[in-house]
Amino acid sequence: MVDRFSKIGFILATVGSAVGLGNIWKFPYITGEFGGGAFVIVYLFTILFVGISILIAEMYLGKFGGSDTVSTFEKVGKENGIPSLKFAGFMGFNGLIIMTFYSVVIGWIFYYIWSSINGLPSSVAEAESEFTDLISSQIGIQIFFHTFATLTVLHFVNGGIKKGIEKLNNILIPTLVLIMIALLFYSMSFDAFSKSFQFLFYPDWDKLTSEAFVRAVGHSFFTLSLGMGAILTYSASLPKEASITKSALTVSLLDTAIALVAGLIIFTLLFQYGEEPSKGPGLVFISMPVIFYQMGEIGSALSILFLSALGMAGLTSAVSLVEPAVLYVKNRFGVSRFWATIGMGSIYYLIGIFAILSYSTEYGEMFSIGGMAIFDILETSSDKFLLPFSGIVIALAVGYGLGKKLEPLKEEMGNTFFQIWLFTIRVISPLAVLFFMLNLYGFIEL
Ligand code: PHE
Repeated sequence: MVDRFSKIGFILATVGSAVGLGNIWKFPYITGEFGGGAFVIVYLFTILFVGISILIAEMYLGKFGGSDTVSTFEKVGKENGIPSLKFAGFMGFNGLIIMTFYSVVIGWIFYYIWSSINGLPSSVAEAESEFTDLISSQIGIQIFFHTFATLTVLHFVNGGIKKGIEKLNNILIPTLVLIMIALLFYSMSFDAFSKSFQFLFYPDWDKLTSEAFVRAVGHSFFTLSLGMGAILTYSASLPKEASITKSALTVSLLDTAIALVAGLIIFTLLFQYGEEPSKGPGLVFISMPVIFYQMGEIGSALSILFLSALGMAGLTSAVSLVEPAVLYVKNRFGVSRFWATIGMGSIYYLIGIFAILSYSTEYGEMFSIGGMAIFDILETSSDKFLLPFSGIVIALAVGYGLGKKLEPLKEEMGNTFFQIWLFTIRVISPLAVLFFMLNLYGFIEL
């Protein structure tokens, strides 16, 4: 039996992959750091002009290959007389690199759900010390929750596309959307809602720095799950009749909507309770618990609801981060899905423990390279290098390598849109990403 998604299952799973910690944890804090509206506009622009085009390309590549990342690139390589193109398929392992820290962060979320039940911190100082204490000295607790997150993720990956991944997403994504809508309506009842709306949608161009551009491009890759074969691998199990263009547009729209809604909710509460928007990565773990504390009785319930949404978003992305490597190992080495899952899971799980240790006071130095904690090395390497680089490879492989094979896509899109799309992935996206990388590594200044 071929293990394929149903049509709706494919959309939910792909939305599940895209909507993750990137939307609810990362988007609000980088938007806060870069001053709001202007950053949001640049981000929306990059989604529209780079993100969606590469999403369509990666989906199409997956459908064309109908297999794991390596086999797919091998197929494109053969058609074009470039056998070594198959090595590009190893981008399927980027997901394991991301998982090393992603799973640890999901573990933190589980920890915070548990600690919201036991009482919330009453001041920022208390919340800050709780978070610092967790990451610098509670190694055992972090490993416990990292293990819990790993077992949950591996359980669903082991179930395969239909019985594992689709099932998980069919339940969690609608629930997540409902929670976000409920929280949005609740936040509308606060006076600060209009301030939050202004902060997100009225640009203050003075605040826009060149770094904001760079982060916006990087984030549009991360948030749409591009450049590591997650989308490619899911699309290999695309139901025959599904439309690539429609699916890609639906996924980008929902992904962007959830990020904006998360931003609206978080900034409303921050402004209402007089907190700063530019708190950085601790925004969700330090500022939010204090706000929930100030809300009194209802606060704990809201905290649990909010963190559950965050956890669900994380889990549905996590399965898509592990699946590409698992499918590759299963296909290429003839091992069962179970052992492939255990094998790939162990790799990221163990490195994840190093990442935890690298933030601890006791072992931090031992698990740092050149003064940088392994956790940070893993996180920044994916965002700043692996995803954008693989994104260019995907754009070029599809743009130049598929030739006549793109006909079905042309039929689907109509000639005008097809030509615009083709120009985008052949020229605009690669140049934009190249520019972003050169800027990041200091070769050019904006
Ligand atoms: N898109 C996910 C998020 O926003 C992260 C992710 C990146 C998932 C790459 C899969 C592939 O959190």
